[in-house]
Amino acid sequence: MKKIIIDGGQEISGTIKISGAKNSIVALIPASILTSGKCVIKNVPDISDVRILLEIMRELGSEITFENETIIIDNGNVKNKEITEEFASKLRASYYFMGSLIGKFHKVDIACPGGCVIGSRPIDIHLDSFKKMGIEIDEQQSKFVMTVDELKGNHFYLNFPSVGATINIMIASTLAKGQTIIENAAKEPEIANVASFLNSMGAKIFGAGTSKIIIDGVDELYDGFVEVIPDRIEAGTYLIIGSLLGNNLTIENIIESHIESMLYKLKEAGIKYESKGNSITITAAKNLKPINIKTTVYPGFPTDLGQPMSTLLTQCEGECLFEETIYENRLRHIPHLNSMGANIKVFDNQALILGKTPLHGKKVKATDLRAGASMLVAGLIADGRTEIYNIEHLLRGYERIVDKLSQVGVQIKLVEDEENI
Ligand code: EPZ
Repeated sequence: MKKIIIDGGQEISGTIKISGAKNSIVALIPASILTSGKCVIKNVPDISDVRILLEIMRELGSEITFENETIIIDNGNVKNKEITEEFASKLRASYYFMGSLIGKFHKVDIACPGGCVIGSRPIDIHLDSFKKMGIEIDEQQSKFVMTVDELKGNHFYLNFPSVGATINIMIASTLAKGQTIIENAAKEPEIANVASFLNSMGAKIFGAGTSKIIIDGVDELYDGFVEVIPDRIEAGTYLIIGSLLGNNLTIENIIESHIESMLYKLKEAGIKYESKGNSITITAAKNLKPINIKTTVYPGFPTDLGQPMSTLLTQCEGECLFEETIYENRLRHIPHLNSMGANIKVFDNQALILGKTPLHGKKVKATDLRAGASMLVAGLIADGRTEIYNIEHLLRGYERIVDKLSQVGVQIKLVEDEENI
C-alpha cells in the first residue's frame, strides 16, 4: 500500500503542465478495437487506469506500445475473448469494451464493470440502449454475454445524459446498419474527443458535444489518430490549489472553455487569475468570499471537482452550501475534513460548510479518487504533517502528481506503508 506525506502551508509558484484527460483515454483505447487499421493516440497520461487498459488490450491480442505520451495500436490480430472479472472489475470504464466488441464482433462476454464507492453506478441506460439495437443480453451471475445478428441503428432519448452511455452507444453504432440518433446526450468535452477519434477512422458522427448526436453507420474503418484533450478535472484541481497557496502559479495546457463553471466560481470567491493562450496564472486570495456549489452535468459545475472544491470552501469567510446531485454517496470525505478541523454539517447530499477554519495535519485516507484530491488539498493547506493512506485511488486520475507538486515547492513524498488506518 502507498501513502502520501505532506508538510503543509508551502507557498506554491512555478509551472504545472496538465496531462491528457483520464475520462477520454479510458474510452479511446477500447474504441480502437472497432478498426483493424493502425491507431495513434497522443498526449496520453501515464496513470494506472491506462496501464490496466493496456493489459486488457494485450490480453485480447492487440499489439500496443506506450512511450513518450503516445500509444500506437495495431488491432489486426485482436481476438474476441472474454474480459474476466480480474480485469473488468479494476475500472468502471471497462464497460466501453461492450460497445467496441459488440460493434466489431457482434459478441461480447464481459464481467461486470468496476466502480468506486461514490454510488451504485448502474449501467441500465447502456444495457437498455444495446437491447434497442437488437442485442441479446444474457445477464449471468457476475457477467454479461451479449450477441447480435445484425446491429441496427436506432433513435434514443436518454433518461439521464449519461457520459458513459452516450459514448458506449456512439461506439456501438459506428459500424451498425442505418442511422442512430442520441437525444438528451451528455455534452462533456470527452465525448467530442472520442467522436473525433472515430471520425478520423472513417466514422460518420455529427453533433458530439451537443445534446443531439447523429451517427450514420459505416461498413469499414481505417487508421485512426487523435490527441487526448487536457484533463479539465486535473486542471480544476490545480486551480483550487493555486487559489489557496499560489504565488503566480502557472497552469499550462488548459482549454478554458472546458472549465468555465469552475473559473466563474473562483472569481465569485474573490480569486484573481490571468489567462494567456492555454495557460492560467493564479495567486492565492487573502480572503475568500463564501460561495455555493451545486454539481450538475456539463457545462455545469462538474461532480468530479465537488470534493476538492469542498476543501476550498472550508477556507471561505462565512457559510457555504455544497450540494452533490450526480452521485448518491460522494460526501464520504467530509468526516476526514472535519477531523482536520473543518466545521461541516451534512444533510443527505448537501453539506453546510462554516468557514474559515484552520486545518491541522493528521492521518487520513482516500475513500475514492476525488476524495483523495480533497484530502490532498487539505494536506497542502493544513499546518503540520498530513499522511493520506489508500493513495492508489488518487494515482488513478492524476499523472505524476507528487512530481508536479514537488517541482513547484511543495514538501510532499510518496512512500510504501503497510499500516492501515
Ligand atoms: C463518467 O462516469 C466519469 N468516469 C466520472 O468520473 C464522472 O463523474 C461522470 O462521468 C459524470 O461526469 C469516466 O468517464 C470513466 P454517468 P459515468 O454515466 O460515465 C447514473 C472520476 O472521478 N447512471 O454520466 O459512469 C450514475 O449512477 C469519475 O473521474 C445510471 O443511472 O457517469 C450516476 O449517478 C467518477 N445508469 C449518473 O448517472 C446508467 O446506465 C452519472 O453517470 C449510467 C449512469
